[in-house]
Amino acid sequence: MTSLLCITIISLSLAASAYSQVTSSPSPAAVKVFANLGDNVTLPCRLLSQDSMSFGSLGIRVKWTKVADDEALNEDVLLSMGFHKKTYGSFEDRVFLQEHDSEDASIVITDVSMEDMGKYRCEIINGMEDTIQEITLEVQGGLTDGVVFPFAAPGFGRYNLNFSDAVRACAEQNAVVASRDQLFEAWKAGLDWCNAGWLSDSTVQYPITKPREPCGGTNNGPGLRSYGHRDKQNRYDVFCYASALKGRFYWLVQPDRLTFGEAMQACLDDGAEIAKVGHIYAAWKLEGYDRCDAGWLADGSVRYPISRPRKNCSPTEAAVRLHGYPDKMQKSYGVYCFKAEQ
Ligand SMILES: *[C@@H]1O[C@H](CO)[C@@H](O)[C@H](O)[C@H]1NC(C)=O
Ligand SMILES: *[C@@H]1O[C@H](CO)[C@@H](O)[C@H](O)[C@H]1NC(C)=O
Repeated sequence: MTSLLCITIISLSLAASAYSQVTSSPSPAAVKVFANLGDNVTLPCRLLSQDSMSFGSLGIRVKWTKVADDEALNEDVLLSMGFHKKTYGSFEDRVFLQEHDSEDASIVITDVSMEDMGKYRCEIINGMEDTIQEITLEVQGGLTDGVVFPFAAPGFGRYNLNFSDAVRACAEQNAVVASRDQLFEAWKAGLDWCNAGWLSDSTVQYPITKPREPCGGTNNGPGLRSYGHRDKQNRYDVFCYASALKGRFYWLVQPDRLTFGEAMQACLDDGAEIAKVGHIYAAWKLEGYDRCDAGWLADGSVRYPISRPRKNCSPTEAAVRLHGYPDKMQKSYGVYCFKAEQ
């Protein structure tokens, strides 16, 4: 029976040779792949045809696309023609063909981010008989669902927040003052910060992963350095905790460099608001947001989020980089906006 069916299909495709025959996978988009943030993940796709045509043949092309709701916004991921392979956009140098055997057209996406989530289409174009398979990628946001970040009073240098200032400062950045447990988790995940900050129990501490002289000395091992409970009138920085975004953080694409006032207005004109410091940290840590452009934020600072360190963009570590607190009339930067979910 099977071979009869095969023959039928082949003769059909011969009969319709002016067109190319499309063989879809059993039920489109039925294949779902799960990954954790930062994983390497394989999206499976195989040449279905039974004939002996080797996949490596020069005539066969493999095209991977990320499919948008509006097909006009589809993104190219990878194109392979024989020995020639090309990756595109945010997938450049991050995606490769697995090629476990001659019929394997699967791709591996390395260092998966939340933005990679969605539907992918694998097309094997073989002249006469094309194969299309669709795969949905789900990305899960890691162990915690929030991020701890250090915050200093904008423009006043370090140690300018008493406890009530600290509470207000975090709230203004879409965050709350972090608890000791949250700072401890952040330290375990690698946070190293040499300025002391308020925590929610009104202790003042800072996390050190690389002990060094100016940061509590080298006699102590890595850990949280604590000044204990402090009088709430004293002034320090603060550690804030922001949870996952309920909305979209983005770089506003627009032609000009902006003053701070123009930056705020540009986000409003786009139906959004200028992003807060909590937004940029949540997008960076929980969604793998990466952009090497310095932009204004609501506290008057200019920062940029790097999750894939590279030359000229935070080369040694993934971080939200602080460019500084420039004169607000300076017209040298773009802007990050945040649009809350409706
Ligand atoms: C992902 O793959 C890259 C390149 O093959 C490798 O360097 C990296 O260690 C892998 N990461 C994980 C989490 O397996
Ligand atoms: C904290 O400092 C602010 C000004 O920065 C001041 O208005 C407030 O009274 C201070 N609160 C305490 C408890 O010292």
